[in-house]
Amino acid sequence: MSKKPLILGIESSCDETAASLITENEQGIPIVLSNIISSQVEVHKEFGGVVPELAARSHMEKIDWIVEKAINDSGRKIEEIDAVASTAGPGLIVCLSVGLSFGKAFASALNKPFIAVNHLEGHALSPKLNSKLNYPYLVLLISGGHSQFLNVQDLGKYKRLGTTIDDALGEAFDKTAKLLGVEFPGGPQIEIMAEKGDSNKYDLPKPIFNKGGCNLSFAGLKTAILKITKNIKTDQEKFDLAASFQKTVEEILYKKTKIAFNEFEKQNKLKDKIFVVAGGVAANKKIRTMLINLCNENNYKGIFPPIELCGDNAAMIAMVGLEKFKLKQFSALDHPAKPRWPLDEKAAFLKGAGVQL
Ligand code: KG4
Ligand code: ZN
Repeated sequence: MSKKPLILGIESSCDETAASLITENEQGIPIVLSNIISSQVEVHKEFGGVVPELAARSHMEKIDWIVEKAINDSGRKIEEIDAVASTAGPGLIVCLSVGLSFGKAFASALNKPFIAVNHLEGHALSPKLNSKLNYPYLVLLISGGHSQFLNVQDLGKYKRLGTTIDDALGEAFDKTAKLLGVEFPGGPQIEIMAEKGDSNKYDLPKPIFNKGGCNLSFAGLKTAILKITKNIKTDQEKFDLAASFQKTVEEILYKKTKIAFNEFEKQNKLKDKIFVVAGGVAANKKIRTMLINLCNENNYKGIFPPIELCGDNAAMIAMVGLEKFKLKQFSALDHPAKPRWPLDEKAAFLKGAGVQL
């Protein structure tokens, strides 16, 4: 049996400090040996959002023991590590710098290759951690910082089909939650509140619903909710608004995913039609159910990473590291932290006033 690569992955792009060791079996399927995630929810709670300087400080305080724990829990020895992969972007630069510098120093001390990983590539490839997946496939990435449809053609080959022109979907969930008086990050709470409410009570806008292809927009929803919350008094009204928000989001994703299916099919000769949903919001059970139904209606195989791999984690970073390691795609030790690092460099920047769709 040949020795399989052992990769240490490190993630610190936002408010999760994470480290993971992975290897693969004889069939080339990744094996997660450890996956340690330390969330900073408590640090940022009172501010209602992630405070970059506090996040960076917290990463610095924890990174040593998180990596140590990931190595100990893996049952492997430090000397067995073949490469170190760190998230280099996109994200908050002060946060990225912590995991990136640590990873470079660690690789250098072990005299092993260093691999800089794009965080979005980690999310896009995360289903490969537990499913056998052939290229090409379509990804809907819905997280706190990003919302996009990607045609994943190969490792490192991505075509963006649509993106949000303003807020990310997770951000819209969190902002709605804040307006309803729920602590940060409120996305998961909105889902729970929505179960107790009447989803037909409030008629919320669906920005760019009938134009802009499979591009997305959520900022108008937040403005509408802000207006409604001014007149809300009872808990039941809050549940109704949460339910109406959840339903509106489902309707937007249903329609836009159908458009993305069409565009994906136009761009590829397909034997199998595969649709992957990744990112923190993919943990939302009602969104999952709606998208599974949509897949069934359109002959797609729907793949959803397990809930613990939907949010930010280092196993997905180690997994991209593993794929790149096998192709000897190593990075220089002066690889910069990149706050903005689109997977499809050719796609137009679609944010800000005056965007033409
Ligand atoms: O992927 P992730 O962990 O971090 C980023 O890269 O942003 O995503 C975090 C986002 C947050 O906005 C959080 O509120 C949202 O995912 N989220 C949810 C749910 N669980 C997490 N949104 C809606 N419903 C959920 N169940
Ligand atoms: Zn993420």
